[in-house]
Amino acid sequence: MSPLSNLATRDVETLVHPYVNLAKFRETGPLIIERAKGVHVYDSDGKSYIEAMAGLWCTSLGYGNEELVEAAASQMRKLSFAHLFTGKSHDPAIELAEKLKELAPVPISKVFFCGSGSEANDTQIKLVWYLNNALGRPQKKKIVSRVKAYHGVTIAAASLTGLPANHRDFDLPLPGFLHTACPHHYRFAEAGENEEQFATRLAEELDALIVKEGPDTVAAFIAEPVMGAGGVIVPPRTYFEKVMEVCTRHNVFMISDEVICGFGRLGTAFGCEKLNYRPHALSVAKALSSAYLPIAGVMIPEDEYQALLLESRKIGVFGHGFTYGGHPVSAAVALKALEIYQRDKIFERAASLAPHFQNMLAALGEHPLVGEARGIGMIGGAELVADKRTKRSFDPQHGIAPRAVQFAEAEGVIVRAVMGDVLTLCPPLIITVAEIDDLFARLIRALDRTLDWVTRENIAQV
Ligand SMILES: Cc1ncc(COP(=O)(O)O)c(C=O)c1O
Repeated sequence: MSPLSNLATRDVETLVHPYVNLAKFRETGPLIIERAKGVHVYDSDGKSYIEAMAGLWCTSLGYGNEELVEAAASQMRKLSFAHLFTGKSHDPAIELAEKLKELAPVPISKVFFCGSGSEANDTQIKLVWYLNNALGRPQKKKIVSRVKAYHGVTIAAASLTGLPANHRDFDLPLPGFLHTACPHHYRFAEAGENEEQFATRLAEELDALIVKEGPDTVAAFIAEPVMGAGGVIVPPRTYFEKVMEVCTRHNVFMISDEVICGFGRLGTAFGCEKLNYRPHALSVAKALSSAYLPIAGVMIPEDEYQALLLESRKIGVFGHGFTYGGHPVSAAVALKALEIYQRDKIFERAASLAPHFQNMLAALGEHPLVGEARGIGMIGGAELVADKRTKRSFDPQHGIAPRAVQFAEAEGVIVRAVMGDVLTLCPPLIITVAEIDDLFARLIRALDRTLDWVTRENIAQV
């Protein structure tokens, strides 16, 4: 292993990084990204990479967009900070909330701004608890999420998240957070069960969980349209229709976590439109500003807003808010991003690129290492397995997907490895057909190198 550069050494000695093995990281050090343009990022040695993950599922308009830069700079000159506490307000937040209401897939009454997806989902839970207190049903407080869900890392959002690393030794999930089954047909369907039958069973399992807990104790169900960090899991056909029916029957509030799928990722403004369900509330973040600045939002329906009014009258104040919620510079950038999405028909562009992207992904699925290539719209995942026929996974200790990520980086493409040896893809929506082809060519070369390594090390053997 080559010695770390000066900058890498300074990093290792000063930063705690999310989502690495901190002990191993001391030897490998970071990949330091210095600049970026379009869909390409450049490291500190000047090497270029296709950013096939849009950063963290977020830079939909790519890098170096001068209109977004200018929106930030001019807002910063005009009003660099203002808050929304204690009755203060500002233009960018008002206009952004109006735009989000216009764009919403279901009737939305108000928008509450915050700084991250985790804060948005934490807020969702607090609002649902408030709602049920306002409605005089203080026992209706449990929240149902799903195994392999990702909803963030603050204490309540991490409790929603259904991934072991986010719970273990953090003493999570909190009591009252339940996880129903993961809607992944490839891994969890029973022998001979088709997608519709699997969806029916999952809805029955959700129903049984709610009945066991007592419907008068279950407040809400939260779901990503397509699970992202859990491994790009596209639900089976008819899934959301069936689980929505269960939620409606038990008067369970449904929250769509649109933090990844919102703003065109699936070829529609919101993921729930593509997957055919109508949530009560939505969480948005990431592509809301194309990640040029942090901003997130909770989209609140009228009946929930009425409950906030009731509680405010009773308590005297709505005791929730973040210093940077609706930050004017972030809001101005988000407004510009929404304007560009509309003007340049970015959601339509995603829809029209999707068939090509998905065909290339399906072709990747032919690779001997890929057990399942899955996706929808402009998001995809490739699950690496030791045996395609039996779907046998590699022993996690070999770190096959992390190794594939290293080979991909050597080939000049950035992808992510998530639990279960899944490589995830979520390129900026401004990517061209030629760049998609280039991305997949590099990825196939990376998988070939991974396979050579697996063969050399004799890792696929039982
Ligand atoms: C679906 C989903 N919800 C919530 C979050 C949390 O967002 P943040 O990291 O901004 O807190 C993420 C982050 O990846 C996400 O993918």
